[in-house]
Amino acid sequence: SPVTSLPSSAGGFPARRPRRLRASAPLRRLVAETRLHPADLVLPVFVREGLDAPRDITSLPGVRQHSRGSLVALAREAVDAGVGGIMVFGVPAVRDATGSGIDDPDGILNVALADLAEAVGDRTVLMADLCLDEFTDHGHCGVLDDRGRVDNDATLERYASAALAQAAAGVHLLGTSGMMDGQVGVVRRTLDEAGRQDTGIVAYAAKYASAFYGPFREAVESTLTGDRTTYQQDPAGARESLLEVSLDVEEGADMVMVKPALPYLDVLRQVADASPVPVAAYQVSGEYAMVAAAAANGWIDRDRAVMESLLSIRRAGADVVLTYSALDVARALQG
Ligand code: PBG
Repeated sequence: SPVTSLPSSAGGFPARRPRRLRASAPLRRLVAETRLHPADLVLPVFVREGLDAPRDITSLPGVRQHSRGSLVALAREAVDAGVGGIMVFGVPAVRDATGSGIDDPDGILNVALADLAEAVGDRTVLMADLCLDEFTDHGHCGVLDDRGRVDNDATLERYASAALAQAAAGVHLLGTSGMMDGQVGVVRRTLDEAGRQDTGIVAYAAKYASAFYGPFREAVESTLTGDRTTYQQDPAGARESLLEVSLDVEEGADMVMVKPALPYLDVLRQVADASPVPVAAYQVSGEYAMVAAAAANGWIDRDRAVMESLLSIRRAGADVVLTYSALDVARALQG
């Protein structure tokens, strides 16, 4: 083995001293296997219909629901700091059973996307959440059948319509996050038939039914009762993530995502090893909130914990990381 074949120095002292390369910050920097760069980070943002000014989200300290105006200002700051992209979530004032707000060109998400496309569209990658849960009054990621179950194929028609609206608003990458079977294929086909070949898809391919989405529910004022276990993946499994990824790639995904990130680094590594397209990971709201809460109690060093978790996600194979810390980290990296 490599260990026993190593020479040992006279007197039994070690000839191999891995500590040597840890001795100074410049040495550690030189040999670092993984680096963080602002360009690899995507900032998720919330825009709330009817706001005149940003509103704090209690469970996500430092993250806000934005007005259309303050969202544009935040986007400019993120772009100036070198952040690689922006993922936009819309929070409508009114919801209904079919989530009408999502494909209404005057709906909050679509108007905010058009604002951003106009303001920063040529300097960043603009992404949008393509999912119904923020727009439905029952809070599910799809429409319901007469027995109250999420109806996969009826939902696909809603996603197709939403995709056209978001593409028209100027989005570069559509984030298909609903976990309906066939969603990537339907969106790709719809875009292509409408002459939108240039609009891409970042598929939330391996998305787990996770307790770590808790603070997000506050951020989008979710009305969901119950859970999403009939469409999002069971945390007990890793293998089906590979199936989800291969289906999404076959159906036309330009990028695939694993979500959440830190509790699923094993999945991320397997996906990164298997995927023929770039891999993103989403450090979700609960991951952010845990660190923020512990730091607020003085129990953890926030900046170090954030950097370490992001490095871990990159080390596990993510090319791109979505994180609510993207702007802070980009600024810290810029120095
Ligand atoms: C679905 C969606 C969710 C998140 C991103 N897209 C919520 C869910 O699936 O329940 C969660 C993101 C986070 O927790 O930060 N629209």
